[in-house]
Amino acid sequence: MSVPARKRVVLLGATGSIGTSTLRVIAAHPDKLELVAIAACTNWEKLAAIAQEFAVPRVGIFDASSHDAARRSLDAFPAGTTLYRGIEGLEQLAQLPEADIVLVAVVGTTGLRPALATIAAGKDLALASKEILVLAGKFVMAEARRQRVRLLPVDSEHNAVFQCIEGHATSDVARVILTASGGAFRDWPDERLALATPADALRHPNWSMGPKITVDSATLANKGLELIEAQCLFGLRPEQCHAVLHPQSIVHSLVEFTDGALLAQLCPPSMTFPIQHALLYPQRAPGADQPLDLNRLFSLEFRPCEPQRFPMLRLAREVMEAGRAAPAIYNAANEIAVAAFLEERIPFLGIPRLVEQTLQTVPICDPASLDEVLALDAETRRVATQFLNTR
Ligand SMILES: NC(=O)c1ccc[n+]([C@@H]2O[C@H](COP(=O)([O-])OP(=O)(O)OC[C@H]3O[C@@H](n4cnc5c(N)ncnc54)[C@H](OP(=O)(O)O)[C@@H]3O)[C@@H](O)[C@H]2O)c1
Repeated sequence: MSVPARKRVVLLGATGSIGTSTLRVIAAHPDKLELVAIAACTNWEKLAAIAQEFAVPRVGIFDASSHDAARRSLDAFPAGTTLYRGIEGLEQLAQLPEADIVLVAVVGTTGLRPALATIAAGKDLALASKEILVLAGKFVMAEARRQRVRLLPVDSEHNAVFQCIEGHATSDVARVILTASGGAFRDWPDERLALATPADALRHPNWSMGPKITVDSATLANKGLELIEAQCLFGLRPEQCHAVLHPQSIVHSLVEFTDGALLAQLCPPSMTFPIQHALLYPQRAPGADQPLDLNRLFSLEFRPCEPQRFPMLRLAREVMEAGRAAPAIYNAANEIAVAAFLEERIPFLGIPRLVEQTLQTVPICDPASLDEVLALDAETRRVATQFLNTR
């Protein structure tokens, strides 16, 4: 019997939270997965350690001075390592002839060009960076269809929907229901939210993630971004995309079919499950983490998400209804607002205020090209930064 070839993986964002979980999945399946390239922004020391551990021959470093520092310390990398620099370096890694699948887990929208490069090279794309689809989903999905590549969602909710929806006609789907943990403030009284600090927001009850997504979980912008991502990935109308609070993060999402049947995907709250599903797809194998133990007592609770308590969720719904470039404006303004909150320049409740103000100012156009999307993204960041500086 022939041994199946290993899938060769490029991992962009290798030093982050998703990157770390991905490395655990790859380490658990040395017979099925091989890491052929990694990249990050500045943390070249950690990249060197990963390259040593997994014998990775190609390493991308976005930041120029970190790249130069790494070049001066080539001894830290395995012998013969090739270093790549900047966004062009990430694009080159995404197109390596020896790669089968690229996992994009770079925070924010920086991964857009490498994601498009992956698709253009005809490789499967495992996508963790939800911001990419919110910014340019129409173009990314069209390219993926044109090149007939698989776009495999890594976000746990979309991966869950993907698993529930597979084999069913889109016309049979009534709605998708994304679950939300509720983030750090789900049990805080409303009046305390005004005083919430970055340290408070970064204390997520269920997940250990990077700072941007952890703050997004606290505002529920994360769920807003995910509703937009779901609409784009699964070709749904805004009214078919819903969110429900589920504090245990065990049900990762549900799909309701037209006959009223609900299918859900359950597993413990660890990103190794969706990452493994995406990397090995369509194969299945024992996971890097233990599955749910149904003999242990646990409960599953669901409660409605209240848009009045979570203005970022209300705004997400509004931008989905507005369509065109509104989600891209929401995303860019949110990135500026979250960075300002983390730097303690604005309070927690200043995040939705800045996003709403920006949405009311930047005209919602209908970009005809990727260049127009990127120009809108830049303009939105300029406007939001100006509001920030004139507060
Ligand atoms: N964490 C989760 O559980 C989770 C779940 C679902 C979706 N996601 C999505 O996955 C993405 C990554 O999230 P995360 O939590 O893993 O973030 P994170 O822990 O902050 O890690 C971000 C990673 O991106 C790298 N990076 C940042 N800017 C870069 C650039 N310009 N060029 C190349 N690499 C760059 C960082 O490198 P340095 O270390 O050098 O800065 C790091 O490896 C986000 O879009 C998030 O929404 C995350």
